[in-house]
Amino acid sequence: MNDKKNNKILITGGAGFIGFHLANLYLKKNYHVIIIDNLTKYYDINLKKKRIKILTEKYRKFIFLKLDIKNYSLIEKVYKKYSFDLVVNLAAQPGIRASIKNPKYVFKNNLEGFFNILDLSNKYKIGHLIYASTSSVYGNSKKRIFKETDLNNTPLQMYSASKVSNEILAYAYSNIYKMNITGLRFFTVYGPYGRPDMAYYKFTEAITKNKFIDLFNNGNHKRDFTFIDDIVHGIYNSSRYMPLYYKDNPDKISHEVINLGKGEQVSIKKIISIIENNTKKHAKIRLQSHQEGDMTDTFSNINKAKKLIHYKPKTRIDTGLKKFINWYKKYNEECK
Ligand SMILES: NC(=O)c1ccc[n+]([C@@H]2O[C@H](COP(=O)([O-])OP(=O)(O)OC[C@H]3O[C@@H](n4cnc5c(N)ncnc54)[C@H](O)[C@@H]3O)[C@@H](O)[C@H]2O)c1
Repeated sequence: MNDKKNNKILITGGAGFIGFHLANLYLKKNYHVIIIDNLTKYYDINLKKKRIKILTEKYRKFIFLKLDIKNYSLIEKVYKKYSFDLVVNLAAQPGIRASIKNPKYVFKNNLEGFFNILDLSNKYKIGHLIYASTSSVYGNSKKRIFKETDLNNTPLQMYSASKVSNEILAYAYSNIYKMNITGLRFFTVYGPYGRPDMAYYKFTEAITKNKFIDLFNNGNHKRDFTFIDDIVHGIYNSSRYMPLYYKDNPDKISHEVINLGKGEQVSIKKIISIIENNTKKHAKIRLQSHQEGDMTDTFSNINKAKKLIHYKPKTRIDTGLKKFINWYKKYNEECK
């Protein structure tokens, strides 16, 4: 999709962390952005409301609709009204722990909800559908660096299973209805306005408030931490380049999954030490054994993203975490 003034984009889950930053990027580029979000109470709802408030006050071409993607007929009304050029599905129940506690909710939300978006995007002939997948689809892969083709269908819990299933459903829809669909496997996204349930956020909170951190596996797990600005540029580039790629390859099924990571690994221990340096405080650590459902390490091979969507993640972990911590301090002052 080329940058045009009147392009209309639907972002589901847009009151969430990634959706907020993505909406901001498209709005800055003068697109019309419609966000659908049902504002789940999974984490502090005030943070979601704050994100929506910022976008509403800053941009004229922004619309927020409090709706649930599980409600087919209400979402259909939105598709009918706006004729979207692009749909980005980010709405989902994230979090591994949440999916262990409530697999049925994850099943309904992440599968039925995604099905509705797929089906409506076909019915209303959306030029391109992008959806969020995750590094956790790689499950118990024994590979050190995950390449898109390494998927071995061994999700470790229901969250990962729901995302693997999304990829399978998207493939089938693309195959039979000739839709252009791109799945993006995000690797541990972090940054300002981030998710309070994620480890880097919880560590920052605990360290600044002198509370204990529960540290699993002695902090030796490694993650491919990817800064939010790099992720949203990756999504934006997918919307620009993937339709051209599908057009140039008419003999292939127009569904691709692409890793979006930094292409580097950082241990959890290292994350804690960066936070300690930035807050000038010491972490109080409580050692715990391995958490059920967790992957040991994640590490992305991003060659496909570099080739197909000219993806170039730039942000180093110390720079990105510093930006997050600065935001965190300011946000907490404002909330007092
Ligand atoms: N943040 C990460 O590190 C990461 C990594 C891999 C994949 N992902 C995926 O990226 C997407 C966005 O993640 P995020 O970190 O911004 O999470 P988030 O929880 O901040 O955002 C998701 C948003 O979706 C909304 N939502 C949930 N169910 C909905 C429904 N049925 N109808 C409408 N809205 C609904 C929630 O209210 C929330 O605002 C998710 O699909 C997530 O699984 C995120």
